[in-house]
Amino acid sequence: MAGASFPRDYDAIILGAGGAGMMCAAVAGQRGRRTLLIDHGDEPGRKILISGGGRCNFTNLGIAPDRFLSANPPFARSALSRYSAQDFIALVDRHGIAWHEKTLGQLFCDESARQIVAMLRDECVAGGVDMALGEAIADIDHADARFTVRHGDRVSRAPALVIATGGPSIPKLGATGFAYTLARRFGLKIVEPRPALVPLTLGGEDVLFRALSGVSAPVVARCGKAAFAEAALFTHKGLSGPAILQISSYWRHGEPITIDMVPGRDPDWLVQAKRERPRASLATALSAALPARLAEALAQRLALGGDLANLPDRALRDAATRLAGWTFSPNGTEGLAKAEVTAGGIATDGLSQQTMAARRVPGLYAIGEAVDVTGWLGGYNFQWAWSSGWAAGQAL
Ligand code: FDA
Repeated sequence: MAGASFPRDYDAIILGAGGAGMMCAAVAGQRGRRTLLIDHGDEPGRKILISGGGRCNFTNLGIAPDRFLSANPPFARSALSRYSAQDFIALVDRHGIAWHEKTLGQLFCDESARQIVAMLRDECVAGGVDMALGEAIADIDHADARFTVRHGDRVSRAPALVIATGGPSIPKLGATGFAYTLARRFGLKIVEPRPALVPLTLGGEDVLFRALSGVSAPVVARCGKAAFAEAALFTHKGLSGPAILQISSYWRHGEPITIDMVPGRDPDWLVQAKRERPRASLATALSAALPARLAEALAQRLALGGDLANLPDRALRDAATRLAGWTFSPNGTEGLAKAEVTAGGIATDGLSQQTMAARRVPGLYAIGEAVDVTGWLGGYNFQWAWSSGWAAGQAL
């Protein structure tokens, strides 16, 4: 008889073997739950493998709920405090994985992201988790308090089903919007998904800045109340670099962003430059604070020619003010193909913040990036995957 005729029974079925799904499966398995982890990819944790330039920025020492975006910001607090960055670091240490802090609290493996995937795999093995890899999910039924999942050429059943299939960013890594389709089927709402941690594109007059492709500078990027002091990078399509990726999560179509090109400079700095070097041009004065190509491009746009000595102090103060809040009007983002994460997703008001269980569908859970919780750049999104996976794993 074909295996499909005889459903295998589990206590929990987890869909998606990314960071969140593997953590959840390992925790549930080690609590004695018969657990099945299904993924259509041939190997688990593909986003982990390519993350952090192959070294996986697995958490951040600055994890705090206000560093996550959500329509309901307090939602993440419970899971993040119950399974913290320190808890994950302890797990990494138990597995003998060497790590270091790079910058801004970001923790990376010394050697390879493969170690994190191997660690989670080992934890799943310790919990006796069955892994069904390379198996497409053909169908899901829900009847008599059981979820029946048709995957590959098998059928499996369980009273609990966890949606851990992530968001649709970087489809070439197997990412899909499956989580949203499934959640909608069970009556959960979706906060409109949008690319986040993504380069912004420039059009109109700003298009001239594309000629600076490859130039990078430390800036403060702002959008609304959000501000990030990190590097910005000009690209052949627009703007990238950590400051821009961070601000992109807060940016909405039609809004401007402002960039302080000369962070920390006194409003009178160009007037002082005039006193010190009256024969210098504005571009030369700017190049004391900025890469030469950027200094040249900004000086051209400020349209203040000749020696500094011939420029009125007021014009120099105005120029300094403009440089401290240079406005760009992005015309879009580079989209889901380039977005490190998808913001939005399964609305948190339908989920328990303690267990990630759907309030109205007993036995259904959602974790990780599929949920409307999106972290800053720098290890925040993996910490959400670990914390939300752990919270559901404790409840299964
Ligand atoms: P994730 O997407 O990891 O896993 C979902 C799983 O579900 C996948 O294995 C997929 O194959 C499977 N799946 C999807 N649809 C399916 C279907 N229909 N049927 C069956 N299986 C299906 N974050 C961070 O904190 N530090 C970092 O250094 C980085 N770096 C980074 C680099 C790049 C290039 C990207 C794209 C992203 C990052 N991130 C990151 C973000 C981080 O990778 C992301 O937030 C987590 O992987 C989310 O974990 P999940 O388990 O929720 O989803």
